[in-house]
Amino acid sequence: MSKVTIIGAGFVGATAGQYIAMKNLADVVLIDINEGAAMGKALDLLQTGPITSHCSHLSGASGYEATANSDVVVITAGIPRKEGMSRDELLKINAGIVSSAAAQAVKFSPNAIFIVVTNPLDVMTQLTQQVTGLPSHRVIGMAGVLDSGRFQTFIAAELGISPVDVKAMVLGGHGDLMVPLLRHSSVNGIPALELIAEARLQELAVRTRDGGAEIVSYLKSGSAYYAPGASVAQMVETILQDQKRLLPCSVLATGQYGLNNVYVGLPVVLGRNGVERIVELPLESSELAALQKSAAAIAKNVATMNDLIGWGKAEVIEAKTAETAVVVLAAAPPAAVAESKEPVTK
Ligand code: APR
Repeated sequence: MSKVTIIGAGFVGATAGQYIAMKNLADVVLIDINEGAAMGKALDLLQTGPITSHCSHLSGASGYEATANSDVVVITAGIPRKEGMSRDELLKINAGIVSSAAAQAVKFSPNAIFIVVTNPLDVMTQLTQQVTGLPSHRVIGMAGVLDSGRFQTFIAAELGISPVDVKAMVLGGHGDLMVPLLRHSSVNGIPALELIAEARLQELAVRTRDGGAEIVSYLKSGSAYYAPGASVAQMVETILQDQKRLLPCSVLATGQYGLNNVYVGLPVVLGRNGVERIVELPLESSELAALQKSAAAIAKNVATMNDLIGWGKAEVIEAKTAETAVVVLAAAPPAAVAESKEPVTK
């Protein structure tokens, strides 16, 4: 069996572990600063094996030795924004958690593919790539699968049809500036715009953009985790089975869409090597502008984070046209971060 480590045995991490086990994709190691939560949830999930007929082994720990030789490492560790906490404070805290987790995990699993879920997602994915020093095709953010799933769900509900027949793609950053592609949404090959009026489809796109907040408003405390967990499992399945599915993921742009050196949601072919290639769709100028605006916002956030964690200032060249690249000149991580042997950050 393949081996998947999930760092952060909270709601998203444990749910991802559940889907991975139920699909018999891999043995799963849950890591959490709260060792009891990791061990307790792993044991609980292990006991679903005879009931739901899976044979994945699940275990929990707080030390990274247990993660050795993982095929995939998923990072969900982090804290949610608390009352009175600024976005920058949260950025700094989660950057500390993610960089520590990534640095330790890569030591034990140098050949793993990393999937990052912690928010702000695109920024944390870029941080993980910087800290691990892995080739960018092996460090991927999970957001597009989730955002596209939400858009597909709303389109299916609008038409009263099975969500299985709906295809849609949401690009850009995982946040207010995400870019649902209306023209590329379809129902079994029929453009969604032929079935739903454009203004209405636009409303569904807005609901998609606010999809996470809508769930938070119902839950009052905490945020979505079933669909995020399922999205992680789909990416893990695609990678481990080398399915080469075309999925939107947060990946390092290297010139595509006029973007450079920034992690942002783009369509990619996902396989056993991670990102096998980034696919360039012919976008309309408004779609391209929205994507570049989204990428520029992420780049600015990366620059802020680099400054906050002491990596020095980064230069962001604002995207304005297809020819103008977004560039984040991030300083290399200090050896202290990359070499840290400390246990997980408290
Ligand atoms: N090392 C390991 N685990 C940690 C660390 C650390 N340094 N710091 C925090 N954790 C763990 C927490 O103990 C907790 O169990 O990370 C887990 C986070 O789980 P939840 O608080 O339940 O959050 P969850 O809803 O799972 O979301 C996780 O995904 O969607 C994003 O914004 C969300 O960043 C958040 C992440």
